[in-house]
Amino acid sequence: TTNVLASQYKSLHNAVTLDDIAHFSSILPKSSILSTLPPINTPPEDLDSYNNDWMTRYKGHSQCVLKPRSTKEVSDILKWCGNTGLVGGGVPVRDEVVINLGNMSNVRSFDPVSGMLRQLVSCQIGGNVATNAGGLRLVRYGSLHGTVLGLEVVLPDGTILSELSTLRKDNTGYDLKQLFIGSEGTLGIITGVSILTPPAPNATSNLLLSLPSFVNVTDVFRLAKSHLSEILSAFEYIDRQSYDLVCRHTGKKALDESEVGNSEAFVLIETSGARKEHDEAKLEALLESLYASSGAQGLITSGTLSQSAEQFATLWSFRELIAEAASKVGKVYKYDVSVPIQKFKEVTDAVRSRVVEVLGYGHFGDGNLHLNIIAEAYAPVIDAALEPFVYELIGEARPVFGRYKGSISAEHGIGVMKAHALHYSKGDVSRAYMRRIKDVFDDRGIMNPGKVIE
Ligand code: MLT
Ligand code: ZN
Repeated sequence: TTNVLASQYKSLHNAVTLDDIAHFSSILPKSSILSTLPPINTPPEDLDSYNNDWMTRYKGHSQCVLKPRSTKEVSDILKWCGNTGLVGGGVPVRDEVVINLGNMSNVRSFDPVSGMLRQLVSCQIGGNVATNAGGLRLVRYGSLHGTVLGLEVVLPDGTILSELSTLRKDNTGYDLKQLFIGSEGTLGIITGVSILTPPAPNATSNLLLSLPSFVNVTDVFRLAKSHLSEILSAFEYIDRQSYDLVCRHTGKKALDESEVGNSEAFVLIETSGARKEHDEAKLEALLESLYASSGAQGLITSGTLSQSAEQFATLWSFRELIAEAASKVGKVYKYDVSVPIQKFKEVTDAVRSRVVEVLGYGHFGDGNLHLNIIAEAYAPVIDAALEPFVYELIGEARPVFGRYKGSISAEHGIGVMKAHALHYSKGDVSRAYMRRIKDVFDDRGIMNPGKVIE
């Protein structure tokens, strides 16, 4: 896919020239430009981190990275790119100009009463808003579509769209900022965010459980919600293969092995609240009721409630280290899907019937399953076993196969990897209107080409 896309861009867009570098040098200090071209002459290896994704699956060939320090500098860069046909992006597919916002991390204002923060975007927050990453605590705090109150965005022609509202309620017609949340840099560059920030909780606790069978996870979820109500801040699912992999990777065991036995599933529950003793009392009552329902075919086989900050971190690591542990074993194919929670295991097993090493874990409380397939190398034979199988299994574009009516991307986005598969989750009408929206903002196609829509 990458090569086909690359040849299309070549015919549509210009490569970076000495003129471009001279122009960028007139609007940015030299320290804000990395380029292999003269007079900058950055060693090519200094651009490696911008040209590789962390899965090492895609490789770009950008020769120019720009690090603007202000919204005006971003606007000046895009005016030039728009006029000259240069394309810009986050991770390049070919030789795009990379625009890195790491220099823009000032807090513009913070209101400690309402918790509203206005920030010149840092790469982390910009990445979060532009990719709409969900994460471990969406179950408690909701998605960025609810917590982002305003955005400042530089549009592809350099125009600044200033919607940095801090209003909780603002029902004044089309909510343009929503278009940029999850747009993956294809419509504009987010340079400012105003966001609702809940206070950091006074107390957090967690609990790791092993469950005899996958079917018990839904019962445990139901009981956790009723016992913990608003203090429930994460409910994460870990299948046996994922748990065993982390045990091997860290050399640690989180639970008593004799109790775990042949348990098929693991669950990590976190609470965040105002008073530790209240939260722990609720967790203990939950644990009691889970044990009370344990019997020969009970709901859990073992459970550990963290007793210290250190143990809290250790229990979390059994969930958080899965992706890292997988990447140490081999090359990882990642599918990040939404399916009904009752189907997590069925979907994982269906993929397991086609390739050997599959991990199933994820944000159970959000219906978000992560399927990680570990292979010795990225290889056409594995590609063919996985695609379009996984998309047909999850998506609904082909009703015959689309058994789950799920989403082919729950939180990781579409990027370049899934642009060709968008139709499995978005129908013809939706895709046609997405295309029209893209054209309204970026008719020259200079923003993050090849990502999201082909
Ligand atoms: C996670 O929740 O751990 C990540 O989204 C999974 C991943 O990196 O594939
Ligand atoms: Zn995730």
